[in-house]
Amino acid sequence: MRTQVGIIGAGPAGLLLSHLLHLRGIHSVVLERRGREYVESRVRAGVLEQGTVDTLVESGAGERLLREGLPHHGIELRFGGAGHRIAFEKLVPGRAITVYGQQEVVKDLIAARLAAGGDVRFEVTDVVPHDMDTDRPYLTFGGERLDCDFIAGCDGFHGVSRPSIPAGVLTEYEREYPFAWLGVLAAVPPSTEELIYARTGRGFALHSMRSPEISRFYLQVPVDADVEDWPDERVWAELRARLETVPGFTLATGEILEKSVTPMRSFVAEPMRYGRLLLAGDAAHIVPPTGAKGLNLAVADVRLLTAALAEWYASGSADLLDGYSAACLRRVWRAQHFSWWMTTLLHTFDGEDAYGERLQRSYLDYVTSSDAAAATLAENYVGMPY
Ligand code: FAD
Ligand code: DHB
Repeated sequence: MRTQVGIIGAGPAGLLLSHLLHLRGIHSVVLERRGREYVESRVRAGVLEQGTVDTLVESGAGERLLREGLPHHGIELRFGGAGHRIAFEKLVPGRAITVYGQQEVVKDLIAARLAAGGDVRFEVTDVVPHDMDTDRPYLTFGGERLDCDFIAGCDGFHGVSRPSIPAGVLTEYEREYPFAWLGVLAAVPPSTEELIYARTGRGFALHSMRSPEISRFYLQVPVDADVEDWPDERVWAELRARLETVPGFTLATGEILEKSVTPMRSFVAEPMRYGRLLLAGDAAHIVPPTGAKGLNLAVADVRLLTAALAEWYASGSADLLDGYSAACLRRVWRAQHFSWWMTTLLHTFDGEDAYGERLQRSYLDYVTSSDAAAATLAENYVGMPY
């Protein structure tokens, strides 16, 4: 079996890459370890930058996103007994974010691929990349062989692509955080119109949403927390304690549909290429979710990778392919810094000295009282231009 681009992973990166390549007349095959139902129901990100929305809409896969996505023009930072709005319309005019679940993006992209006759294979076992440092790389899986011009490693942080690169090629940069997030999806109308990022002495809380009927919450929890430690009553009590901190705000509670614990990590592997294996998305880099950047970075990588492959097929020039990693990493490191900074600003660090806490409070006061400081947050949050 033969294709032009063999893609490992049917997350947002792999599916969007396959779709954008198809629009440029380039054939690909997507190999995904999990079942279709599993990838379509995995609850993860929810905040799409303007550029991500534009990319999906221009590709023709954004029709439902435009209909059902919730455009937001600000967020609230809540601390010290008060809420402070970061007003995108004032600070970064014309730019906004859209709240739309990652699994909805995944559903829309799978539908678009299948409608166009795309080759997306689920429940594929034992994918292994071979001969990436030659002109004839190939993939093996479940007793089959797929010959490719290029392999795209879009298989997330725990995938097979990055570890298949020989030792000594990559440099890895990493930071771990002494806490995790408990993510909660609940069948209750949001108690707020805009996202609330709350810093309290009990830890961080985030109130997000998915629709007028469904809310999404995150709680800072100990790094070794287990979902079993968090029965529904405890989740609601803690969310209320961390969010009902301003006069007149009451949190509506209801049925909890899903709970999961996510570790927090910053990670970058450089370069994002080994011969004819190109990494994109979480396969190459991870950010803590506080800045809502992971999915958006995956989309930015895939845009660059599509352009590079399209140029190679159209003219034989490898210039964009050779510049791919450096072009991605510029944006990746901006998002690394922003995500680390948002995380540091809003979480409670065990054993932190009083000095560190005062610094945190001082920066929160600055970012909510100076337009210059607030614009830095807003510009990064809505997404830097491509
Ligand atoms: P993935 O989505 O991880 O997809 C990789 C795919 O590869 C998976 O389907 C996996 O099953 C498959 N795979 C893995 N190994 C193999 C193998 N060996 N063979 C075949 N297939 C394989 N980002 C944002 O931008 N905004 C947010 O608001 C946000 N919030 C988040 C909240 C949470 C709780 C979490 C966990 C993440 C959040 N993120 C957010 C990050 C975002 O979800 C990821 O960055 C995004 O999923 C990256 O997409 P990807 O396609 O690179 O990787
Ligand atoms: C969501 C996730 C995030 O990481 C974030 O910063 C904001 C919102 C969400 O899932 O809705």
